[in-house]
Amino acid sequence: MSASPVVLAISGASGAIYGKAVFDRLLDAGVEVQVIVTSTAEHILRAELALSKEYFLGKPGAALLDNGRFNVPAASGSFITRGMVIVPCSMGCLGRIAGGISSDLVERVADVHLKERRKLIIVPRETPLSDIHLENMLRVSRAGAVIMPAMPAFTHNPKRVEDLADFIAGRVFDHLGILQNFTPRYSG
Ligand SMILES: Cc1cc2nc3c(=O)[nH]c(=O)nc-3n(C[C@H](O)[C@H](O)[C@H](O)COP(=O)(O)O)c2cc1C
Repeated sequence: MSASPVVLAISGASGAIYGKAVFDRLLDAGVEVQVIVTSTAEHILRAELALSKEYFLGKPGAALLDNGRFNVPAASGSFITRGMVIVPCSMGCLGRIAGGISSDLVERVADVHLKERRKLIIVPRETPLSDIHLENMLRVSRAGAVIMPAMPAFTHNPKRVEDLADFIAGRVFDHLGILQNFTPRYSG
């Protein structure tokens, strides 16, 4: 396992499969993961994947943080990470990050990543997008975040929903600087 973990936040947007794919692939790659699941995301994990948040517990290299508790190392800029990924990211979560609200652990850790100039990858999921959503994305992008919409490509002829989720997980890996070969690259 690497010394520094990736913080993976799963917020209350549809597309829990994207968060699960990033989690599974990070553990496969031997990367330590600290997971935060919002209360709405718990509901969506159950509805979309029949999973409880305990899925993220009890696996070597994985830790599950309580979104209501701030007294954990990840809430501090002195705690070094390899970056944070919010996947999927709801518009509510995005808006609160854009406003610097820090009202739960997900928002606080995102705020820390921006202020420490560390990698923050946001995978928003909503359609269509209002001016408010678009302005919030621009705001956090200007503050240093990578906005990576859950928009998988179809150039690799995906056959299963999991192939689409892996495409997004692969792009997340690319931006975290972690080598991956679980999803094909466009080769012309
Ligand atoms: C079943 C369900 C699906 C949802 N899907 C989305 C979504 O795709 N995108 C979004 O921005 N909000 C979605 N929402 C609304 C957010 O969950 C809600 O605004 C929540 O307060 C966001 O906060 P959180 O992401 O911190 O949990 C959904 C809510 C539910 C119950």
